[in-house]
Amino acid sequence: MDIIEKLNWRYATKQFDPTKKLSDDQVNKLIEATNLSPSSFGLQPFSILLIENEEIRKKLKEAAWNQPQLTDASHVVLFAAHTDLSNKDVEDFLKLISETRNIPLESLSEYDAMMKGFIAGMSESDKINWISKQTYIALGQLLVTCAVEGIDACPMEGFDKGQFDEILGLKDKNLTSVVMATIGYRSENDKYQHLAKVRKPIDQILVRI
Ligand SMILES: Cc1cc2nc3c(=O)[nH]c(=O)nc-3n(C[C@H](O)[C@H](O)[C@H](O)COP(=O)(O)O)c2cc1C
Repeated sequence: MDIIEKLNWRYATKQFDPTKKLSDDQVNKLIEATNLSPSSFGLQPFSILLIENEEIRKKLKEAAWNQPQLTDASHVVLFAAHTDLSNKDVEDFLKLISETRNIPLESLSEYDAMMKGFIAGMSESDKINWISKQTYIALGQLLVTCAVEGIDACPMEGFDKGQFDEILGLKDKNLTSVVMATIGYRSENDKYQHLAKVRKPIDQILVRI
């Protein structure tokens, strides 16, 4: 199957088969692929929560308009923004670059000043907004990886973020929920898998300049 066939195969799964679970190897691969998604500056100012606990998922489902994917999918992957983004994140990141690439920290001083200046120019809500955009890129990468691997997924933002934060105790972890994907295997009864894909014709969406 080429990539277009795979992307046509994928759809926002409404009904998962609750008896089918992804293996640890599959989940690890999906998370690794998601972690490889690009982010602004490379800072990755978000966390990926992998949620399996059944009791917690029942509560999350109630806070997500009772959408069945929350309890029937194999796993829930929730992207959460760091609410305490600060100069320390920049410093930790520069240390990681320095160690990974074996270059002196001092050689990164201009990058340091640039990132810190950028962060200082944002309000708290600007920061969450900016970080949220990074999580959507990661979500997209997760969805495409799922399609390539023949794994079903549903991107989801139909949930009460305040309730999710409360159920998962995210405030204490300096996190706030943004968007999620439920992942697993489609139920053979999910009628949505048989519907034709609805997309605008390319000439309506593409502007050549
Ligand atoms: C950010 C985002 C949030 C979404 N939230 C939900 C959701 O809460 N529940 C749901 O069933 N589908 C959700 N969807 C799925 C979309 O409805 C679906 O992707 C769209 O209708 C296109 O269909 P397709 O993905 O099957 O091609 C969401 C999609 C995106 C990208």
